[in-house]
Amino acid sequence: MPATVVVGTQWGDEGKGKFTDLVAKEMELVVRYQGGHNAGHTIVVDGESFALQLVPSGILYDHITPVIGNGVVVDPVVLLAEIDMLEGQGVDCSRLKVSGNAHLILPYHQEIDAITERHLGKNKLGTTKRGIGPAYADKATRVGIRVQDLLDPKIFRAKLDLVLKEKAPLLAKVYNRLPPDPDEIAARYLDECLPRLEPYIADTVTLVHDALDAGRHVLLEGAQATFLDLDHGTYPFVTSSNPVAGGACTGAGVGPLYIDRVIGIAKAYITRVGAGPFVTELHDDVGDLLVDRGHEYGTNTGRRRRPGWFDAVMARQAVRLNSLSEVALTKLDVLDTLDTLKVCVAYEADGERYEHLPYHQSTLHDCTPVYEELPGWQTDLSGITERHELPAAARDYVAFLEAQIGVPISLVGVGPGRDQFLHFAA
Ligand code: GDP
Ligand code: IMO
Ligand code: MG
Repeated sequence: MPATVVVGTQWGDEGKGKFTDLVAKEMELVVRYQGGHNAGHTIVVDGESFALQLVPSGILYDHITPVIGNGVVVDPVVLLAEIDMLEGQGVDCSRLKVSGNAHLILPYHQEIDAITERHLGKNKLGTTKRGIGPAYADKATRVGIRVQDLLDPKIFRAKLDLVLKEKAPLLAKVYNRLPPDPDEIAARYLDECLPRLEPYIADTVTLVHDALDAGRHVLLEGAQATFLDLDHGTYPFVTSSNPVAGGACTGAGVGPLYIDRVIGIAKAYITRVGAGPFVTELHDDVGDLLVDRGHEYGTNTGRRRRPGWFDAVMARQAVRLNSLSEVALTKLDVLDTLDTLKVCVAYEADGERYEHLPYHQSTLHDCTPVYEELPGWQTDLSGITERHELPAAARDYVAFLEAQIGVPISLVGVGPGRDQFLHFAA
C-alpha cells in the first residue's frame, strides 16, 4: 500500500497537527520524519487540547502505531515528559516506537544553540533554542550519538567522551561556560532515561516496510515547513532538517515510489516565527486581528507569530518542491470579520514581475507583493459543516486560492476542533 505525506507549505504552524490527526483516522502507522521538539502541534478533541512536540499526531487513535523516525532528533527527557503528559490526559502511549537511528539531543546541544543565538546579536535566527541545529550539525559531522547507543553503555560513554573533547573546550574557553560533566550526562541518560525509553526503541525502517508490504496505510508526518527547509527555505532563517516531502524518504526510510499522495497544509493567511524575509508581512491592524483571532502565539515558545496575507508565489513553489497532490486549507474562519482580503499573486522587484520565487535571496529581500483583492464574507464559519453552506465570498476565496496554487484544495478548516472542517474536493 502506498504512503501519504503531510507537509507544511509555509513557515510552520499551518495546522499540520490537526490535519494529520484527521487524515490519520484512515491510517495504521504515522511516522514523524524530521525535526524535534522545536515543533508544536495542537490537536483539539471535544474541547480538550493536546500539545504534541515529538510524539506523532496519530497518537490519539488506538489503532495507530505512532513512529518517531530515524530523521528526527530526540531529547529523551522531553519525550518522556510528553509521554507522561499524554498519559495524564488518558492517551495510551505504549504503542509508540522510536527509531534506534534517530540522533539524541543532549544538554550541550541546547546550550550551544542558546549561546550561538546570543552571539549572533541582531543577526540571530530566532531559533527555538531546543538544540536542534547543533544536534543535526553533530549528525552531519559524524560525532552525533544515536538512540541505539543508549543500549550499550560502553559505546555511549566512549562516544560521549569523544564528542566532549571538542565541546568542553568550546563551551569553557570560547563561551566561558562550565564544561559539560560526562558523569552527570551518563547518569541522567543511561540510569534515568534508558529504563523508561528502552521499550519504545525499535528498528522502525523494518516496521514501516512490514506495514507497507502488508498493505497497511502509512502516513509520513512532517514538522516545520517547506520554507524552513535547510535546502529550500529562506536560508539561513531555516531549521536544520528537510521538512519537504523528499525528507520523508530519508527520515522514514522509504523510497519515493512508495509515496502516491502528498497533502500540503496551508493557512488561509501566513505566519512566521523567528527572523527572516516575509514579503506579505503585515504591521498594521489587520495583522493584529489575524494574530488575535488566530491565537497566533507559539504552542512551544509562546512567541507572537508574525502575520501576513496568503502568498501564492510561495504556494506555487511548495507545489513544485513537494509534488503536492492536494492542499488542506486551514483557519479560513480567522478571516471571518474582514471586509476585504488580499492575496499575493506575484512579486515585484526592480521593475520585474516574479510569478515564481526568485532564486537569489537578495532579490527576495527587495520584493514587494502584487495583491489581488477579494471581498470578505463577514459570517461566522465556525459552525458550518458542509461546503455548500459557505457564503459565496468564502467559496470564491477558496476557489481563487486553488486557481493560484494549481492543485485541488481538498479540505478546509473552519475551527480548531477535530470536526471543524469541510470536504472540498470537487
Ligand atoms: P502545526 O505546527 O502546523 O501543527 O500548527 P500549530 O498547532 O502550531 O498551530 C495551529 C493552531 O491553529 C492550533 O492551535 C490549532 O488548534 C489551530 N487550528 C488548526 N486548524 C484550525 C482552523 O481551521 N481554524 C482555527 N481557528 N484554528 C485552527
Ligand atoms: P511546527 O512543526 C514554526 C522556526 C524557528 C526559527 C527557525 C529555526 O510547529 O510548524 P530551530 O529551533 O528549528 O533551529 O529554529 O525555525 N521553527 C518553527 N516555526 N513552527 C515550527 O514547527 C518551527 N520549528 C522551528 O522559529 O525561526
Ligand atoms: Mg506548530
